[in-house]
Amino acid sequence: MSGCPFGHGAEPQPSTSPPDNHDHRTGHEETVPGAPPGMTYTDYLKLDAILTAQSPLSPDHNEMLFIIQHQTSELWMKLMLHELHAAIGHLRNDRLPPAFKILARVSRIMEQMVHAWDVLATMTPPEYSAVRPYLAQSSGFQSWQYRCIEFAMGNKSAAMVRVHEHRPDLHDTVLAAQRAPSLYDESLRLLGRRALAVPASHCERDWREPYRASPEVEAAWLVVYRDPEAYWDLYQLGEELADLEDAFRLWRFRHLTTVERVIGFKRGTGGTAGVGYLRRMLDTVLFPEIWSLRTRL
Ligand code: HEM
Repeated sequence: MSGCPFGHGAEPQPSTSPPDNHDHRTGHEETVPGAPPGMTYTDYLKLDAILTAQSPLSPDHNEMLFIIQHQTSELWMKLMLHELHAAIGHLRNDRLPPAFKILARVSRIMEQMVHAWDVLATMTPPEYSAVRPYLAQSSGFQSWQYRCIEFAMGNKSAAMVRVHEHRPDLHDTVLAAQRAPSLYDESLRLLGRRALAVPASHCERDWREPYRASPEVEAAWLVVYRDPEAYWDLYQLGEELADLEDAFRLWRFRHLTTVERVIGFKRGTGGTAGVGYLRRMLDTVLFPEIWSLRTRL
């Protein structure tokens, strides 16, 4: 079967004929009991909610771009978190092939978000300046999903949890993400279960603390990378992590250059130095030994 699962052409008017077990809108037999009868594309995707969630505050034409760019990024982040949690669960249970499949998807989602900057880069400084006063102190800094992604990738920070104190529900979610072992933590525990010499301090620790690079961990990865044939799945894991961090770095870089292009060196709405802050974030290394081992090979 190929093509749009909802069939082609315009959405039909609701039928007045009695329901049967054949979906005339799609041409497919209805096979799942309990699927809402007469459900349309608009119903299933909750488009009424999604497409009425854009409420520009300014009279400026370009605010719609600004809103939709952020909202679509948040939707992709939602999917990324969904996938990252699944990948982490698979690694914890030694199921590497499904983890690889999912991690490849996470990297592609990140690449999708990297390309999305091209659209926002069409917003010029005067266009942004017309919207800026209406944003008040709201800032991407407060994206709780982004923070959960950073934490799932291992970039833990207590200060970034406090940003969400004003919303106890979100604060709890971000705190739970800070307390959970990251993708890299679970990768190292896996190496430990495979009898590679990962220090105990990196297999069990206070996961809220930022990750600290270790020469012993680098040595464990070096065993893998010096003999890929013997450790093929762990070698593949290392390269999936490199792919993911590579894509994440590109996202940070495109954010930085887009911001510099749009606001120059003005302060951010979240109160940071703006470009200076984002430039410092470029130095973040999520999986340090995956990079440092390359110099030793
Ligand atoms: C013209 C558009 C944009 C400008 C001028 C801008 C500017 C900034 C600035 C200056 C910061 C630093 C914090 C602050 O002081 O506010 C920041 C952080 C952030 N922005 Fe943007 N941004 C833009 C678009 C976006 C978009 C489309 C997203 C996608 C969701 C986004 C997500 C974030 C995130 C997640 C952070 C926190 C980064 C971190 O803590 O490492 N930004 N942004």
